[in-house]
Amino acid sequence: MRKLRGVLISLEGCDGCGKSTQAALLCERLAACGLPVGPASASGAVIREPGATPAGEAIRNVLLHGPSSLAPWTETLLYAAARAELVETVLLPELEAGRVLVLDRFLDSSLAYQGFARKLGVDEVLAVNEPGLHGLLPDVTLVLDVDPVVGLARSGAGDGRADRIEAEGVEFQQRVAAGFAALARRFPERVRLIDGFRDVELVAADVEAAALEAVADAGLRLGG
Ligand code: TYD
Repeated sequence: MRKLRGVLISLEGCDGCGKSTQAALLCERLAACGLPVGPASASGAVIREPGATPAGEAIRNVLLHGPSSLAPWTETLLYAAARAELVETVLLPELEAGRVLVLDRFLDSSLAYQGFARKLGVDEVLAVNEPGLHGLLPDVTLVLDVDPVVGLARSGAGDGRADRIEAEGVEFQQRVAAGFAALARRFPERVRLIDGFRDVELVAADVEAAALEAVADAGLRLGG
């Protein structure tokens, strides 16, 4: 693992879990604490996956709004490719410059969606992602835990605008949620579940507290 001066925080969860709202709130709150949040060129901004680079946004379009069906490994490798571009061109340089980065999805989405829900295997999906990660893992991963049925109704699927993944339906989202819970058990030092089925402010307070803990830990690592 490379020594980096910044902090990487990823927010995760099934579709419609409220993660994008929480990611934006977290950026605002961390910036209000005087931290250098987001990429230097887009201060305060959330970084979304797949996306956030020209290649990543093009790949996102293929994944979510392109062909109506993709073979599971094609899908997995496209997510991994978008991620490799993000790691190398944005995350590593920004972390080296000491920025605090908030990601709306990262590696664990691939482990939950492709590894568990598509049943490709967590270790297998991790293995194809590893070369593009260069040893980078989030300092902390916060999974917003909500009932997948409620989540799907809140997502694009609830108003007839489902993308290719949301169109997979409730059983798929239930496997995704079970996948995230399994990841929290497997990587307890990094992955934490937060009850996302509460008032936005209560969830935001827990998300902020966990993120500030990671920031403090990174500071301790630096000193030590
Ligand atoms: P997005 O519109 O960003 O969904 P959300 O707002 O819920 O994050 O679309 C991302 C979709 O891609 C979402 O359904 C989850 C899926 N996904 C994967 O299946 N694997 C991955 O590795 C990533 C990053 C996302």
